Amino acid sequence: MKSERILVIGANGQIGSVLVEYLRGIYGENRVIASDLNMPDTKPDYFEKLDATDAAALSAIVAKHKITQVYHLAAILSAKGEENPLQTWYINMQTYFNVLEAARINGVHKIFYPSSIAVFGDHTDDTAEQYSYLDPTTVYGISKAAGENWSNYYFQKYGMDIRSLRYPGIISHQSMPGGGTTDYAVDIYHKAVNGEQFECFLKEDTKLPMIYMSDAMDATVRLMEAAKDQINIRTSYNLAGMSFSPKEIAESIRKIIPDFKISYKPDYRQDIADSWPQQIDDAPARKDWGWRPAYTLDKMTEEMITELRKKYHLVKI
Ligand code: NAD
Ligand code: SER
Repeated sequence: MKSERILVIGANGQIGSVLVEYLRGIYGENRVIASDLNMPDTKPDYFEKLDATDAAALSAIVAKHKITQVYHLAAILSAKGEENPLQTWYINMQTYFNVLEAARINGVHKIFYPSSIAVFGDHTDDTAEQYSYLDPTTVYGISKAAGENWSNYYFQKYGMDIRSLRYPGIISHQSMPGGGTTDYAVDIYHKAVNGEQFECFLKEDTKLPMIYMSDAMDATVRLMEAAKDQINIRTSYNLAGMSFSPKEIAESIRKIIPDFKISYKPDYRQDIADSWPQQIDDAPARKDWGWRPAYTLDKMTEEMITELRKKYHLVKI
């Protein structure tokens, strides 16, 4: 485990900026190389500037650092992806093909590929089973469903150890989301702690699957550290944290900030949310590698508000 050399691609994003620190805590600072399109504002050590659509540049970084594991996070997410569908397809797919090939050629042992609840569409039940019919409605969802199948293809054809989770919407205090349909559930906490009213782009009763960043980190590393014979799904595992609607998250916030106000002005993201399931059945993840989330909505709300109050210097530390 200590001899791993890890490359995180898309390291400046909502997940990457937290994951890099989490992995460095486990494997050591110099064993986790972060990479993204631009240098980060802080912590430029062990960082490689990389456009992952450039196959040669990606392969050179993998070879230079003798990388053994790649976490491929770079992607354009559901809402932003709809602004330019063909560009989104190109970025999401080309970067992943380049990762798969760089890993195959350079003998990388393991790859993490994040999929999404966006792979589900109108013909999935309100609770999505692992083997639901996949008819995604966004170009992002189409690219994630294709990526899942390519992961399985490289596993079947080349024996490559690729592991994947269908993340629900991720909620974090450390980082901001980058253009998804679940982003409201992060923004709402920032508005609440700053005493502002929040206008939600989804209807009050739109229930979606979500997960707290701390649980997402735990699930990711638990999956990646599981013994190979515990991994029975090579497309992508369903993963559940919690499910709630905008009205329910507002009620949870009001238990701590009683005068918090929310209003609703649904936009194009409502259609995307309506095509996604409300809940996820993650029985295989629980059975195969022991997944259990630790956070409920109220427990997450308490921690989000505490941490954001510190971030905005609203409390003495
Ligand atoms: P994000 O948008 O916050 O970050 C993505 C990062 O990828 C950005 O820093 C961006 O600069 C980088 N990037 C984009 N194109 C690149 C390229 N060509 N080369 C190198 N880097 C590039 O996204 P995130 O929320 O951190 O998501 C990370 C991954 O997890 C994505 O694949 C996403 O689909 C998946 N995911 C996220 C969520 C969520 O709620 N955040 C849910 C499900 C799945
Ligand atoms: N949180 C992501 C999005 O809304 C789900 O993949 O796009």
